[in-house]
Amino acid sequence: MLLREKVAIVTGAASGIGKAIARRFSEEGARVVLADLNGQVASLTAEECPGETLIVEGNVAEEDQVKGMIAQTIERFGRVDAVVNCAGVPMAFTPIEEVSEEQWERIMDVNVKSIYLTAKYCVPHMKQAGQGVIVNVCSIAGVRARPGLNAYCASKGAAIMLTKALAIELAPWRIRVNGINPGPADTPMLSKFMSGDKEKIEKETKEIFINSVPLGSLIQPDDIADAALYLCSGMARMVTGEIVNVDGGRGI
Ligand SMILES: NC(=O)c1ccc[n+]([C@@H]2O[C@H](COP(=O)([O-])OP(=O)(O)OC[C@H]3O[C@@H](n4cnc5c(N)ncnc54)[C@H](O)[C@@H]3O)[C@@H](O)[C@H]2O)c1
Repeated sequence: MLLREKVAIVTGAASGIGKAIARRFSEEGARVVLADLNGQVASLTAEECPGETLIVEGNVAEEDQVKGMIAQTIERFGRVDAVVNCAGVPMAFTPIEEVSEEQWERIMDVNVKSIYLTAKYCVPHMKQAGQGVIVNVCSIAGVRARPGLNAYCASKGAAIMLTKALAIELAPWRIRVNGINPGPADTPMLSKFMSGDKEKIEKETKEIFINSVPLGSLIQPDDIADAALYLCSGMARMVTGEIVNVDGGRGI
């Protein structure tokens, strides 16, 4: 029970990596706030969590909704020990001249601004407690660029640097801030990085991405959940500003 009595917010908890993190944290004794755009699907995650959960439906890119998410957490549990920013949006391979301003802004808002917003509203509680942990799910695409993933790579690069900036800023309060760079992971998001014929995408996505991973298989959501558990637990009490690649070697 590495997270006994802890209160953890996991964004993007309805699907993929966020779902696995929420379940794993619950198994380790945490009370978990399942935050997602889709509250109905998040309730399916809750059914897989052995411990107490709170579902908060909302958009992590909207200030009022993030403020409400932290307020509901405090109202229900009286504290927040950990925040895992996992909600994110992908992009299909798109030449830069075809990326709309709207698409660019949405990717930046969900993948980067959300980290600023959750910090803005949870850090005051963590400072008061003299402890806290933030884990940002970034991407190996934030350090190893790929053609046509321009906005996505930029957003994840920003998420990595924001992780380090917050780590150095918040260390005096013993608030630790770390990131995880997943490689290609076996979630509903994976095929959304591809463009072109739908049938072809369905058939070929996994094979294409598996071939890009030196260890020879896709990353499973539970692989990321294990890293998040470590970073949020006392085992990582002196780890901050670190970005852990869980990518099967793709970033080498
Ligand atoms: N799957 C991969 O190959 C991969 C690789 C590297 C990094 N990542 C990152 O991991 C994270 C999780 O990805 P996943 O593969 O589990 O994706 P997923 O699509 O399975 O799940 C993403 C979840 O985020 C939620 N979400 C999206 N926008 C939101 C918003 N504005 N507000 C609240 N919730 C929102 C969705 O509803 C969904 O439940 C993302 O940040 C992604 O960029 C994924």
